[in-house]
Amino acid sequence: MLLVTTIAAVRARREELARLGRRLAFVPTMGALHEGHLSLVRLAGEHADEVWASVFVNPAQFGAGEDLDRYPRDLERDRELLAGAGAVLLFAPGVKEIYPQPPATVVDTPGLAAGLCGAHRPGHFGGVALVVAKLFNIVQPHVAVFGAKDAQQAAVIRRMAADLNFPVEIVVAPTAREADGLAMSSRNTYLSAEERRAATVLHRALQSARAAALSGERRGPALEGLLAATVGGEPLARLQYAAAVDPTTLRPVPAVKGRVLLALAVHLGGTRLIDNLLVEGLE
Ligand code: PAJ
Repeated sequence: MLLVTTIAAVRARREELARLGRRLAFVPTMGALHEGHLSLVRLAGEHADEVWASVFVNPAQFGAGEDLDRYPRDLERDRELLAGAGAVLLFAPGVKEIYPQPPATVVDTPGLAAGLCGAHRPGHFGGVALVVAKLFNIVQPHVAVFGAKDAQQAAVIRRMAADLNFPVEIVVAPTAREADGLAMSSRNTYLSAEERRAATVLHRALQSARAAALSGERRGPALEGLLAATVGGEPLARLQYAAAVDPTTLRPVPAVKGRVLLALAVHLGGTRLIDNLLVEGLE
């Protein structure tokens, strides 16, 4: 696998690929890779002739007091894992390569970023949309794969790509989970052994709210109450939000019709974890 750190080198490879008429799939990441990321790379391989990945811890999407400085970084390990999953090029630029000067341009989806995580992480989704727009322009993939684990991020990127006419197909891959249901996340490494055990509460809460929805509960606020109650039963967990929203608009649904996205953010000690579940077939 080729490791590339400059935009110029990516563009040169990209031109070569265009000459060969090969279809390109792209998986952007912030590194500290786990099986969830690798499942994206493998799925990307089913959509294209070649898969490229990026590792870039994007300062623009971290707020003051968030974990930018302690975010886990291990490029050598990431490189091996990506090669093993079938990526042929890794773009791992430095901050100055992506942000040679403070950006004067705003890329944002304020409506989609207002609720859920956006309400607690002001500026986060603007930072995500900006870097993904830049990466799309640099890499120019035919397909880009994102994880359902970050459902609000996937909705923001889908809409940003449509609104700005990026010629890229957005594919959303299912959430990869540990055996006990915990959604894989680079931030799981922050958890103590006790917190790790308690962290299953997110998945348990989502499952029990889903069971309620499937057995007839259609009131959004009641589903949110169920999520909150399960999280409340775990002494180490502190709920940030519990939401039952429309999967496309991300707006709260008073009465569920058809589909509902159940979403949670929970603090375990100093670590913030998110998870969600899409429930469909609710007629
Ligand atoms: P990062 O958190 O590294 O995640 C990279 C991609 O992996 C995202 O699309 C995310 O949704 C997906 N992912 C993470 N955990 C997953 C899991 N358990 N199952 C399936 N997919 C999972 O998300 C980002 O980086 C950044 O915001 C980025 C899009 C790269 C922009 O900086």
